[in-house]
Amino acid sequence: MTLRNTPDSFGLVSRILHWTMALMILILLPLGLRLAGMQPSLSTLWLYGLHKTLGLTALALVLVRIVWHRISPPPAPIGPPAAWETRAAKVGHVALYVLMLAMPLSGWIASSATGIDVMFAERWVVPPIAPVSETIDQVGFAIHGILGKLLLALVVLHMAAAVKREMEGDGTLRRMIRGRA
Ligand code: HEM
Ligand code: HEM
Repeated sequence: MTLRNTPDSFGLVSRILHWTMALMILILLPLGLRLAGMQPSLSTLWLYGLHKTLGLTALALVLVRIVWHRISPPPAPIGPPAAWETRAAKVGHVALYVLMLAMPLSGWIASSATGIDVMFAERWVVPPIAPVSETIDQVGFAIHGILGKLLLALVVLHMAAAVKREMEGDGTLRRMIRGRA
């Protein structure tokens, strides 16, 4: 069992990062949509705290993932490099990375702008990264919402593509689960 990626397999580190973050994002998206639809109150405060803690953890993990990609590059996609599906998958993966960065950053900026302390695990105060400002608060959360819907759509497409390739039996999904196609 290798930790590093090889030219034709995903190592343990990339697979653990992929599936841990996938699970977190599949919790963060519906939780965020639920938060956006309700009035903050004392009894729902912990849900905001949970969303922020998970979201900031996702930011830390995506940074680790980007560094790991540089240390240990991922395998080439399965299939002919010129095929439209291969190119679409590449563009899709880059877009997923951009959104995995932009979502927590926009949430952190908008939350900082409210003037309420952003807490990690209900224990540590996370430093604000934007001044207190009603405009930044409103625009920031509007951007967080739009990007969130974009991420949701991309994740659905990404999952559908993975299932399609599994049904075609080309080993793409198996390689992300077990390492080898
Ligand atoms: C990968 C990370 C994240 C994802 C996928 C995510 C996703 C979402 C989504 C989909 C919404 C609903 C937005 C809407 O429909 O208007 C939302 C709302 C929210 N998010 Fe995030 N979020 C992430 C990280 C963060 C972080 C790091 C913070 C703060 C530190 C944060 C704070 C909030 C807050 C306070 C709301 C409620 C906004 C409102 O009441 O309108 N999020 N999030
Ligand atoms: C929910 C959030 C998810 C995100 C943000 C995400 C993101 C990514 C990214 C960026 C890659 C490129 C390789 C890497 O950098 O690790 C990737 C690869 C992959 N993902 Fe996901 N993923 C998610 C969920 C899923 C799910 C639920 C499945 C399965 C149904 C899946 C199946 C795959 C497969 C099979 C690959 C390998 C593609 C290849 O070899 O070219 N992903 N994912």
